[in-house]
Amino acid sequence: MSLKKISKIQPDKFEFNKINLEIANKTILNYPDGKQQSAVMALLYLAQRQNDNWIPLSAMKYIAKFLSMPYIKVYEVATFYTMYNLAPVGKYFFQICTTTPCMIRGSNKLVEVCKKNISKNESEISNNGKYSWMEVECLGACVNAPMLQINDDYYEDLDSEKLKEIIDKINNNKTPKPGSYRDRVNTEPEKIRKTLLGNKNA
Ligand code: FES
Repeated sequence: MSLKKISKIQPDKFEFNKINLEIANKTILNYPDGKQQSAVMALLYLAQRQNDNWIPLSAMKYIAKFLSMPYIKVYEVATFYTMYNLAPVGKYFFQICTTTPCMIRGSNKLVEVCKKNISKNESEISNNGKYSWMEVECLGACVNAPMLQINDDYYEDLDSEKLKEIIDKINNNKTPKPGSYRDRVNTEPEKIRKTLLGNKNA
């Protein structure tokens, strides 16, 4: 498990752009009167998307004002949930699951590939400014372990070679295909499927 550090370099100002301001205003309408503060997670996520995948302190202050709530409460939420990045990440952000099922299936080898090909330490931007990586807890795709998430996509059933191929593809400005890297359909058994064969929709 990695600890999230708050960036020492912080922009002075943050505000939602026109599109996100509209989304934020619509989002808070989803909550009953007087409960608009419950939109804090959605707005933090919106701020993260707008700000190259990380949330500066100025965005937390802006959201606190936006929702008329104390800044410390927004800060508490942003620092509690690991999905919020509190420092810049690479354009390609690799999150490697190292929880038990992925660990048993070799996630440590994926970590080694990232250390060698991206940066020696996690949460450190690569020299070419393109990548960063970190270890995370279970991403809910244990059946296809080991796996990692790159930005919004899951890459599953990996090994060191496959991960290296993925990095090479990105280096060559190609988009690697998400999903299983052992040609499984979703979480279907490998090779011959033996169950639910009589069920048309299974
Ligand atoms: S343990 Fe890795 S996805 Fe669940």
